[in-house]
Amino acid sequence: MKKALLTGFSSGIGFAYAKHLANNGWHLDLVSQNKERSLSALEDLNYDHCSVHSCNLSSSDELHNLMKEISTPDLLIANAGIGINGSVGKNSSRDIQDATYLMFGGVIGLIEYFLPKMKEKNSGRVVIISSIGALIPMPKSSIYAAIKSGIYAYGRSLNEELENTNVSVTVSLPGYVRTNIHQRSGLEHLTRKIPNWMWVSADKVVTETEKASIKGKSRIIPGFLYRITSIFFNLKITKIIWKTLNARK
Ligand SMILES: NC(=O)c1ccc[n+]([C@@H]2O[C@H](COP(=O)([O-])OP(=O)(O)OC[C@H]3O[C@@H](n4cnc5c(N)ncnc54)[C@H](OP(=O)(O)O)[C@@H]3O)[C@@H](O)[C@H]2O)c1
Repeated sequence: MKKALLTGFSSGIGFAYAKHLANNGWHLDLVSQNKERSLSALEDLNYDHCSVHSCNLSSSDELHNLMKEISTPDLLIANAGIGINGSVGKNSSRDIQDATYLMFGGVIGLIEYFLPKMKEKNSGRVVIISSIGALIPMPKSSIYAAIKSGIYAYGRSLNEELENTNVSVTVSLPGYVRTNIHQRSGLEHLTRKIPNWMWVSADKVVTETEKASIKGKSRIIPGFLYRITSIFFNLKITKIIWKTLNARK
């Protein structure tokens, strides 16, 4: 059985990824931090071929322990994340540090640990769930945008470095997806404000990301609308419309 390591499996995009891989017969190493949410997700997943690991991925000690527990996967999906937001100066240095480690430093640590082993086998895939916010300004979510841009730069550089090997790194840049993230980060108003046509389903994110990863592509923007719109991201008018639709409180 092929083995996948998936972080942040307990809800949203991660849970959709777990379902997709279970339907395709993968063995899953599933990681999240909250035991209750993890158990409930496991029950919904209803799949025998998996191991669950409880780990706070904002902690380097916990991440290092986790890496020792898991053998090299055939597919690594760095998905876990939070929606850190707020105008400049509003986030504590602790919150900034935790979010940065969770979605940037720790992701790099995980990939630097497993990817050389994939290279030795000349086989393996890595998927990083970044965000469309890596490509366009996100006022009052500047830390989130910076983290997601940084991890995008890392992933796409690696993908080129791995050219001519059988190992790939694909960065997925989703727009709005209905998950727990907005409520958890105090952005619930966006779930009412953002028009329906701007939402992409978690299942679509997963199927399009997997397709791109299997082809070895360096990046994928899930959803036709976002792919087309992203071509015009550098235009002032696009930035104004985006800023109006996305306005944080
Ligand atoms: N939803 C969107 O609109 C959107 C758009 C672009 C990109 N993304 C990205 O997609 C990824 C998944 O987010 P989602 O929207 O699916 O959110 P979600 O439903 O809130 O799921 C987040 C997942 O990450 C895990 N997680 C959070 N903090 C963690 C920590 N410190 N240690 C271990 N696990 C942790 C959560 O586990 P626990 O339940 O145990 O905390 C949960 O499984 C994130 O990287 C996010 O930035 C989301």
